[in-house]
Amino acid sequence: MNNPRIIVLISGRGSNLQSLIHHAENYRIETVISNKPNAAGLELARNANIATTAFEREAKGDHSHREQIYQTINQINPDFIALAGFMEILDPHFVMQWKGKLINIHPSLLPDFRGLHTHQRALERFNQTDGQQNQHGCSVHFVDVTVDTGPIIAQATCVIEDGDNEEQLAQRVLEQEHRLFPWVMNNIANNNISYNNATVNFSEQATNEAQQHKFVIKTK
Ligand code: GRF
Repeated sequence: MNNPRIIVLISGRGSNLQSLIHHAENYRIETVISNKPNAAGLELARNANIATTAFEREAKGDHSHREQIYQTINQINPDFIALAGFMEILDPHFVMQWKGKLINIHPSLLPDFRGLHTHQRALERFNQTDGQQNQHGCSVHFVDVTVDTGPIIAQATCVIEDGDNEEQLAQRVLEQEHRLFPWVMNNIANNNISYNNATVNFSEQATNEAQQHKFVIKTK
């Protein structure tokens, strides 16, 4: 695959998008799609001359904006789709259609803390275990039909410090997110990370790089 085209889906601030833009070596970001027209990340994309589009939910319970998002993606027919803080659950038919091509970043060491408020929950566990469980971080994974359960590609860890509050911890995890996500996307784009029969495979080069960056990967 020569310089695969990716679409990035966002809902907000877009700091992961910014990092994907900044570190794009083996992929090209074709379009950024938001489900919030005022997402700050759209401006970051425009500043980088990347096409943007937004589809907002019209009313509570109305999901037609998601069909518009799917249509737009199908028209562009990207090689991969990166979910960078896209705060909406995608429908099973779409997830199945793009299986192995749909990649998400989640701010916890999955399978710990699926869903929301991951930093708060990590801090609670830290306090409940008197600081014994002090590992936190982020995961990049292929998306499955159930939320935050798809095959994990790689994780980056950080340590919870005594006295950390949620913001401080979120910031520390975010620094890891910004390193991890582009690394994964670049390696997927040049086929050093691949996905076959529900298994994530790493080339020797990707394995070595992961070690250098202190990313956690599972090799066979
Ligand atoms: C990140 O923590 C990401 O892991 C989570 O939502 C947050 C998005 O932040 N899914 P940003 O918009 O990339 O700054």
